[in-house]
Amino acid sequence: MIETEDLTRRYGDTVVVDGVSLSLPERAFVSVIGANGAGKSSFLSMVSRLLPMSAGRAFVDGLDVSATPGDVLARRLGILRQEHGVTARVTIRDLVAFGRYPHSKGRLTAADRAHIADALAFLDLEPLADRFLDEVSGGQRQRAYIAMVLAQDTDCILLDEPLNNLDMRHAASMMGLLRRAVDERGRTIVAVLHDINFASCYSDRIVAMRDGKVVAMGPPEEIVTPQVMRAVYGIDVEVVTVKGYRTVFFYR
Ligand SMILES: Nc1ncnc2c1ncn2[C@@H]1O[C@H](COP(=O)(O)OP(=O)(O)OP(=O)(O)O)[C@@H](O)[C@H]1O
Ligand SMILES: [Mg+2]
Repeated sequence: MIETEDLTRRYGDTVVVDGVSLSLPERAFVSVIGANGAGKSSFLSMVSRLLPMSAGRAFVDGLDVSATPGDVLARRLGILRQEHGVTARVTIRDLVAFGRYPHSKGRLTAADRAHIADALAFLDLEPLADRFLDEVSGGQRQRAYIAMVLAQDTDCILLDEPLNNLDMRHAASMMGLLRRAVDERGRTIVAVLHDINFASCYSDRIVAMRDGKVVAMGPPEEIVTPQVMRAVYGIDVEVVTVKGYRTVFFYR
């Protein structure tokens, strides 16, 4: 369970996350949408303790994030950052093994190896597992990073733009896998998405941010509307319901 109270981040006089108070549902897929610079990554980074908060509080499963040791939090919550700088000569299997670090502290047990194998299989990475990260495509590398976060085996998973570098087929397959992680494994996934139509089809809740504030939160049918899209992105779109899902169209 992720909750925030008046969560705020400032850089000098500029407020980039502005008093966000939220209670996110458990065992749900929550999308975070908003324009570039809206504060989405800053919000996720504070919840995961990667970025110090300027004010307010965040709680993960009732633990106060600023007062919880990193390794304790890392067994509850995993995060895929928007820019993940691992480019060294590591194989995909070794990268996924890093995800076990909060549990294994570097000495992999049989249980750790089972989690690694499971994450590689879940993301269909077995054929690539022994390739180095710089020997695979950008989309394959993106899947490897997500496998690393899944191998961490946490209830809460924060993903900052998990669809980066994925083609339409792999993006759809990734959303399907993440949905299964929620439905079959009871995970809580919070994902920053720029593709509103994927957010619309796969989310239980959508959090819409603008200028550091949450301007709307609700199920897709409440958020994927011309009014909210205008409020969030400042553009006019048409919304059509296709097979029960709200779908956004933008015309030149
Ligand atoms: N170290 C920093 N110093 C000053 N301002 C910063 C710093 N890091 C981020 N910001 C500013 O904070 C604001 C929010 O940034 P953030 O990365 O959270 O946005 P975002 O919603 O994730 O955007 P994007 O969709 O482009 O990833 C931006 O205006 C950004 O310029
Ligand atoms: Mg971002």
